Amino acid sequence: ITLYLPKDAASLALGADRVARALTRAAQARGLDVELVRTGSRGMLWLEPLLEVATPEGRIAYGPVRPGDIESLLDAGLAEGGAHRLRIGRPEEHPYLARQQRLTFGRCGIIDPASVEDYRAHGGYRGLEAALAAGPAGTVEAVKASGLRGRGGAGFPTGIKWNTVMLAQAPQKYVVCNADEGDSGTFADRMLMEGDPLTLIEGMTIAAVAVGATRGYIYCRSEYPHAFAALETAIAAAERAGFLGADVMGSGRAFHLEVRLGAGAYICGEETSLLESLEGKRGIVRAKPPIPALKGLFGQPTLVNNVLSFAAVPWILEHGGPAYAAYGMGRSLGTLPIQLAGNVKRGGLIETAFGLSLREVIEDFGGGTGSGRPLRAVQVGGPLGAYFPDTLLDTPLDYEAFAAKKGLLGHGGIVVFDDTVDLARQARFAFEFCAAESCGKCTPCRIGAVRGMETIDKVLAGESPRENLALVTDLCEVMTDGSLCAMGGLTPVPVMSALTHFPEDFSGRGAKLP
Ligand code: NAI
Ligand code: SF4
Repeated sequence: ITLYLPKDAASLALGADRVARALTRAAQARGLDVELVRTGSRGMLWLEPLLEVATPEGRIAYGPVRPGDIESLLDAGLAEGGAHRLRIGRPEEHPYLARQQRLTFGRCGIIDPASVEDYRAHGGYRGLEAALAAGPAGTVEAVKASGLRGRGGAGFPTGIKWNTVMLAQAPQKYVVCNADEGDSGTFADRMLMEGDPLTLIEGMTIAAVAVGATRGYIYCRSEYPHAFAALETAIAAAERAGFLGADVMGSGRAFHLEVRLGAGAYICGEETSLLESLEGKRGIVRAKPPIPALKGLFGQPTLVNNVLSFAAVPWILEHGGPAYAAYGMGRSLGTLPIQLAGNVKRGGLIETAFGLSLREVIEDFGGGTGSGRPLRAVQVGGPLGAYFPDTLLDTPLDYEAFAAKKGLLGHGGIVVFDDTVDLARQARFAFEFCAAESCGKCTPCRIGAVRGMETIDKVLAGESPRENLALVTDLCEVMTDGSLCAMGGLTPVPVMSALTHFPEDFSGRGAKLP
């Protein structure tokens, strides 16, 4: 029998390796011929480790499986997809997955991430074939027509960025993938790299062909050792199969790809400090202009995109830009891989067209808070994103709709809090985080974050709260207007949203507020 069990970091943390060992032992004892394929995760994290078995009716899933469940699963006729209290049925028919539009994550959790054959059997490398046939200008045109915007957080139109690098004249150009996924509550980059790394590699190869780059780097955060290993394995496999290296798919074009590990700095997710770090220097932000598209790694034109931006591209090239643009709303086209986390019943990865409301994501997919207590706040877009109260939960997931409410979609991370959260403490945390992670290059961020933390501490102690909150508001204005990059520039977003939407958390601290 053929069984599938994830080996991504989330499933491993939940005991997937122990389940695998229990399975192997039990199969040996029973004389069963078992082939165990280790996959990525489907993204239904509350069901991990999710064990699947191949049957004539398709795969049947069971979860969450503990080592102690293996004997009873085998007794229940696991090989035929037999009845058991953990039986989920066909995973793609599970409401959590059935309501999604998996374009980027279509293969994640299904294929063996290390196998080029498996990847090809599931439609892999059709996008690169199309790109090689279309040529650089045709490929950039397809990405433009798709409406794809940078999924790292800033939402800059990907096609326009590619066009800038394509038109730049230089002896050497680079393609760099930002895999320094540092936002709290986010894990989509990791899931993709661990579960379907060849999609990222194919996306980067398409980009290299389009912009005329022969070298590429994936800058992966050091906290992701499994992603790093999965990438190394997949790159070696792609090279052996002729999809990377001196002659990509017999096209005569070269593309050499390497992975680099970061050293644990949040700021290295900012593209210019990432490039400094790649060059072997300390990760300090560079002033823009010049933009990396014109003067990036080692001073050469460099295309820097997030994992999810590159990984969206193979589908776009295979199906055409307009097919991707048919999903979404307004100027937010295609799909957004949402990461639902925090105090929620069913956390996981939800890839869906833009336009779903925050409430639909949290209630329909997430099933409400994990604690069962009332929901109080939701932070979208990482530690620099806004805290939204219940009254803003009908905001659709759309870059512009979020900006209009003084929030940001960022990298698509959603963190849910119940009514035990203290928003004054969360506001303090925003400053504390900025103080710890600031690169120190500019004053508003380096000094502002520390002063902000001290001033909120005074408010928390009930010391002239009215005057001190006026100071915090003033400081936030300076940081927004005067910081060199998004780190200092966006720290005021969580602070001011906490103050605006949850003033009662600041006022009940010893003194009356207006
Ligand atoms: P940005 O707005 O400065 O730039 C966006 C991108 O567009 C950059 O790559 C920039 O080089 C490029 N660009 C701008 N003008 C261009 C032109 N004319 N031609 C070609 N390319 C051009 O934003 P930044 O500072 O790169 O990113 C800020 C965002 O990062 C925030 O919105 C935040 O949500 C997100 N973020 C994501 C994190 C994660 O873990 N994924 C962590 C922290 C922040
Ligand atoms: Fe560095 Fe902060 Fe200034 Fe960004 S805003 S350049 S992280 S000091």
